[in-house]
Amino acid sequence: MTLEQLQTIKQAALEALAQAKDEATFRAWENTYLGRKSEFNTLLRGVKELSPEERKVVGSTGNAIKQELIQAAEAAQSRMASSTGQSAADAIDVTLPGTGTGAGHLHPITQIEHEIEDIFTSMGFGVADGPEVESEWYNFDALNFPLDHPARDMQDAFWLADMWGKKKYLPRTHTSSVQVRYMERHKPPFRIIIPGRIFRNEATDASHEHTFHQFECLVVGDDVSVANFKSVAETFFTAFFKRETVVRLRPSFFPFTEPSFEFDVNCLLCDGRGCPVCKNTGWLEIGGAGMVHQHVFEAAGYKRNQYQGFAWGFGLTRLAMMKYKISDIRLLMSGDLRFIRQF
Ligand code: DAH
Repeated sequence: MTLEQLQTIKQAALEALAQAKDEATFRAWENTYLGRKSEFNTLLRGVKELSPEERKVVGSTGNAIKQELIQAAEAAQSRMASSTGQSAADAIDVTLPGTGTGAGHLHPITQIEHEIEDIFTSMGFGVADGPEVESEWYNFDALNFPLDHPARDMQDAFWLADMWGKKKYLPRTHTSSVQVRYMERHKPPFRIIIPGRIFRNEATDASHEHTFHQFECLVVGDDVSVANFKSVAETFFTAFFKRETVVRLRPSFFPFTEPSFEFDVNCLLCDGRGCPVCKNTGWLEIGGAGMVHQHVFEAAGYKRNQYQGFAWGFGLTRLAMMKYKISDIRLLMSGDLRFIRQF
């Protein structure tokens, strides 16, 4: 390699650069003259083969030319930008309106949760809480689920890998798991609600989710009856739906209540006349309830037959779907802002 060769390349490069008028020709030029496989770089790599004296002169001239070409390329680039009206000085138009970051708001489920808490606290209830990862004891055993009872399968659970020895843990399958936790630390009389997130091993579809929200109501004292349950439930639903609401009980089974029932409210849409939403029955199924089983009191350390209480639980998520007429439960936890922004 000689100094003349370097000068020839430099000359050719500068002439070609002067011809580069747009982005595409400029990129092609860059490839030819500055790219890794360019003739120029190949020449520069040849410096290694020269004698030490030559290497010094030719090497430093080569590097100087390279710097010169890089600078010329930068100049050509800003020349092209300004000819399309986009020089650095023009790029920011300070008179344009800003984009803004937008204000967030509470998730519809949280809004409903707050609404429910407001109604219940105005009726003298406390709000309790418990862990989302729960021991088998609080989720099932303490609630009188026999070890081999199919009721455990009714709420197909996700079990956690056995990390803590003998005790088994699971993401709780219902908010009823907080009942015994609360009773261990409080002496009746009390009335509480327990809103919370729960988890079930479900195949998901428009009306089934693996993660959803429930809330539990628990009232315990010396003399609490089913009539008290009906009255509290009707007062609550009348306030929540902002219209006169009637509660109907049907016999059912839950291991932690005796007697147990499921309860319905009169259909909000047809007022009991019958419509597709209530499947012409005039009633909407809401949740489960019952008088707290004495075994549950015993698990909490209370004496058998010392207290009476009622408990009920149902889907807060379902309530949100009814209130906002949401037809697919999966939308709620989808994180899709187009959906969330409607609330
Ligand atoms: N834990 C039940 C479930 O998730 C709902 C339930 C039924 C709660 C009856 C109660 C009750 O407190 O008394 O399906």
